[in-house]
Amino acid sequence: MAETGAHARRVFSGVQPSGNLHLGNYLGAVKRFVEMQEEDYETIYCMVDLHAITVWQDPAQLKTAIRELAAAFMACGLDPEKSILFNQSQAPAHAQLAWIFNCVARIGWMNRMTQFKEKSGKNAEASSLGLYCYPALMAADILAYHATHVPVGEDQKQHLELTRDIAIKFNNDFSAPGFFPEVEPVIEGAATRVMSLRDGTKKMSKSDPSDLSRINLTDDADAISKKIRKAKTDPEPLPEALSGLDGRPEARNLVGIYAALSGKGAAEVLAEWGGREFSAFKPALADLAVEMVAPIAGRMRAYLADPGEIDRILGAGAMKARAISEPILEKTYDLVGLLRSA
Ligand code: TYM
Repeated sequence: MAETGAHARRVFSGVQPSGNLHLGNYLGAVKRFVEMQEEDYETIYCMVDLHAITVWQDPAQLKTAIRELAAAFMACGLDPEKSILFNQSQAPAHAQLAWIFNCVARIGWMNRMTQFKEKSGKNAEASSLGLYCYPALMAADILAYHATHVPVGEDQKQHLELTRDIAIKFNNDFSAPGFFPEVEPVIEGAATRVMSLRDGTKKMSKSDPSDLSRINLTDDADAISKKIRKAKTDPEPLPEALSGLDGRPEARNLVGIYAALSGKGAAEVLAEWGGREFSAFKPALADLAVEMVAPIAGRMRAYLADPGEIDRILGAGAMKARAISEPILEKTYDLVGLLRSA
């Protein structure tokens, strides 16, 4: 992976606390977060509650969703002793830096964001202004820590390109070469875009009305097996080579999931399974998914039994996050020409 100038190797990533995590979030992001925690990086992982409220969130449920996400992070293997785990709104530099970036980023850049178009649908005029400038807040999340590496799923690639553009323009506008690093997206592995189990052309998503379309990290073994058994496939056996997956989105998706869960490459999976029927492949995939995913729910319940402890962990994480982000914000204000009272 490329080195990033004078900046330390620091990882930042975020997940929205807007409902249950699913297998796409796990394989595309959180599993990689855990691996990077064990590698040669300083790792910072954030529950992005300010991003979640760009669409309506029931206040009575949001606090629970934040604690559930913290529990899911830890149940997947993130360790508050090794990584900084915290909630975005508890570190005010994110919102403060986002304002500066709203003044750096151009409206034309925001207009190109495909995720805004998807999320606002036909009624963009009625969307919140927050949803529109969401990518500037995301850039602030990352750059408030001078993070260099950002592990995400494929769907976040365009937002990370925008983060680079904002960093470059800021450094230019304020004659501060190299102040904000040009971040390196980490979009790696066999499952950077996990698709719906009901339609291999649609992304697995928490907003899909069909629960059969996704495996939730809170699903038990029976639910996981049932969803894989019912997953849409085509009538052909599995191909022997990767090129045989062209035009077969459901087959490609299941092979990718198997590869990511087993830590093998997709080509290796096909070398093992090529020529065999889905009726044989699906039970093996279900066993693997149950083995990897079902224990997460039990561990999550154990963390959630003590919400006070979760709040303590998030409080401690926010203090560490503030200790890094506040001096960077101070320096940013100074570069922009703002006066600071403290
Ligand atoms: P969010 O909360 O939608 O998703 C969290 C992470 O899961 C990945 N992901 C997927 N990966 C593979 N297949 C899928 N079907 C799938 N669905 C989701 C996402 O790519 C993401 O990595 N904007 C971000 C949150 C964010 C952020 C940040 C990320 C806010 N600030 C700073 C990185 C750095 C989002 O909405 O992710």
